[in-house]
Amino acid sequence: MGPAAPKLTPRRSDGYTVVEFIVPRQPPAFLVVTLPPVCRDNTNSANVQLDVQLGRLRLRNPIAVASGTFGYAREMAGLVDLARLGAILPKTITRDPRPGNPPPRSVETTGGMLNSIGLNNDGLDEFIQRKMPYLADLGTAIIVSIAGRTREDFVDLATRLDGVPGIAALELNVSCPNVSGGVDFGTNPDACRQVVAGVRQACSLPVLAKLTPNVTDVALIARAAEEGGADAISLINTCLGMAVDWRRRRAILGNVLGGLSGPAIKPIALRAVYQVARAVEVPVMGIGGIATIDDVMEFLVAGATAVQIGTANFYNPTASMQILDALPTALAELGARSVADVVGTMTERK
Ligand SMILES: Cc1cc2nc3c(=O)[nH]c(=O)nc-3n(C[C@H](O)[C@H](O)[C@H](O)COP(=O)(O)O)c2cc1C
Repeated sequence: MGPAAPKLTPRRSDGYTVVEFIVPRQPPAFLVVTLPPVCRDNTNSANVQLDVQLGRLRLRNPIAVASGTFGYAREMAGLVDLARLGAILPKTITRDPRPGNPPPRSVETTGGMLNSIGLNNDGLDEFIQRKMPYLADLGTAIIVSIAGRTREDFVDLATRLDGVPGIAALELNVSCPNVSGGVDFGTNPDACRQVVAGVRQACSLPVLAKLTPNVTDVALIARAAEEGGADAISLINTCLGMAVDWRRRRAILGNVLGGLSGPAIKPIALRAVYQVARAVEVPVMGIGGIATIDDVMEFLVAGATAVQIGTANFYNPTASMQILDALPTALAELGARSVADVVGTMTERK
């Protein structure tokens, strides 16, 4: 039999984490070890300042987890020290519950995965009543991701979420490739500007606009989101793709088309972040294929102020923790005293 696997239980209110080692022997034995609280402030051995500013939103560090890849956080509590994360983005919510697309809804591909979940969620009321109280207690910034078919949907969601305790910001998902309706906001600059402006007027929370790479000029859409009043731009959502079973002569996904994510899309995401960071004044949050500290550093020097980890959460649930452990040293390697010191510092190639 292999070595005992430690089972982490969520941090207790006194800051201690209890680790149970279940020893695979007869009779069953439990060894309970109590670990000291992890230092919660931003000092670290490399003495680098980790907090970042995204418009009106301040995060204790630049490492967040992406919407749709981390459930509503409770699912990950035994694996991840949730309070260490810079931010958590729960699965996108819509005003009414949505069953999502027909199965199969995901398939592994080379260097990534395709999904066509179709914004499956229980709707706004359920989120406020059952998900938000747990999230609000975690001690990390909660950025609530919302989506709608119309501008009014977005405004209505923002109005009702304004004032709900524990929400740090809203991320407008104007970029989901797996739903019909609502996609215009991420592909049409005027529609994007108007939806962001409508949400800004309707609520006092900081607003991030999450953009799709499935456009000709992503900088154009980013500038429109900035004009609408976005505090920051997050990108990218998934890249539209498909997988085929040639023997059966049919598409693998029930929805035929899906969104590609994971390491396979990192170069596309880096390109989009680089282009957008040079086109707008507001900060950029980089997303797409991030799985290691090197990936994070690449996004930061290319222009991202913070990042979100997505698909990596599925195959390495502690990726965000490993990255946080390595971040101060990696920043110090570039002589930085803060995250801001490295953002967008890539030198131009002649
Ligand atoms: C299974 C799955 C579900 C997703 N659901 C959402 C979602 O509900 N809202 C959203 O804004 N993005 C969603 N995304 C997109 C991710 O947040 C992220 O933008 C994208 O996957 C690229 O990052 P990655 O390559 O690190 O996964 C989803 C991605 C996956 C793989």
